[in-house]
Amino acid sequence: MIIREGLSQIFIPDDKILPGPGTKRVGFYNPDQVLNRDITVALVNALKPRNYLDGFGGTGIRGIRVSKETGTNSVIAEINRKSVEVIERNRKENEVDLEIRNEPFESVVSRLLFDFIDVDPYGSIVPYLDVALTHVKNGGYIGLTATDLSALTGSAPKKTARRYGAHVENDRLRHETGIRLLLSYIAKRAAAMDKHIVPLISFWRSHYYRTIIKVSHGAGRADEGLLNIRAISKSEVVGPLYPQSEEGPLWTGSLNSQDVVEKSCKQVMRGIEAKSLQFLGTLPHEDARMYFFETADYASYLGKSIPRLDALVELLRENLGAVAWRTHFSPTGLKVNVNHAEFLRIFEQIAVK
Ligand SMILES: C[S@@+](CC[C@H](N)C(=O)[O-])C[C@H]1O[C@@H](n2cnc3c(N)ncnc32)[C@H](O)[C@@H]1O
Repeated sequence: MIIREGLSQIFIPDDKILPGPGTKRVGFYNPDQVLNRDITVALVNALKPRNYLDGFGGTGIRGIRVSKETGTNSVIAEINRKSVEVIERNRKENEVDLEIRNEPFESVVSRLLFDFIDVDPYGSIVPYLDVALTHVKNGGYIGLTATDLSALTGSAPKKTARRYGAHVENDRLRHETGIRLLLSYIAKRAAAMDKHIVPLISFWRSHYYRTIIKVSHGAGRADEGLLNIRAISKSEVVGPLYPQSEEGPLWTGSLNSQDVVEKSCKQVMRGIEAKSLQFLGTLPHEDARMYFFETADYASYLGKSIPRLDALVELLRENLGAVAWRTHFSPTGLKVNVNHAEFLRIFEQIAVK
């Protein structure tokens, strides 16, 4: 079947496209990842790397879109011979001039120099992270898509401990925790190589987490970066409705760069869906504070129902002059620039038994 995405037409061997993490198959294509690819194209366009590696090609859609929509020199690596045939067909159909390598990511990335490396494997990024960090150019970028959410959110605690050396609670705040656990792991691996990371964007969508980081050399800066990593207790960070037990180690620094997001959103790009850019534009609000206020947790803490969120936002503004944003981490969560006691006081006024 042929699908259109961005400015490209892509041949997919399957007749059925299923959302979700999917099974391993030739010419793997996932419609849940359109947002991921739209945002990647917008950032590549804004950051202007000299070249781009789509390290895990599938149908080639990611590398083809980057090449066609941003004009960046691109290479696609794909280990599976049959998928490479699909990528070759798609390259031809879309008339893009890019290189396709039927080789493992690990060997392509270590022989050619890239300043944007995209890591989009099935499952965890852990087996590929070190090689990407080792070979990315100084001041370059790595995009990482992780689908091992059971490990990152603590729903498989043994895996969380084994893979990430961490403990996290699988509660309603789990997707912010998951992203922060992923970033703490990435920053620690980078620091071990005397490298420092800055997250440019970080988000959760259905079955995956996506982050794009900037990587720079320097032991001093790596040490500074490590100051962003620590074990936390939600009781301390959010409020006493949560247990005092320790979780992490987690990344406590910013998840997004406001400058990069603004620059990326300013570009008028025909291939990118308006709703993807709109979503990208909201990401800096996630840095208003570490963790959102989960109204479902406050409601059960007080034995009340969840109030209408727009009415709560209005009351927070009227009484405290507070600014509140919806968080993408939970449909019932708010990021607000107040503390727990202030939030609780306003919540109590509006929540009904
Ligand atoms: C999740 S899919 C990639 C999807 C694609 N990036 C997209 O946006 O649609 C993973 C792909 O990586 C390929 N792959 C797995 N291990 C690889 C490796 N070590 N090097 C290169 N390709 C690999 C698989 O054959 C599969 O096609």
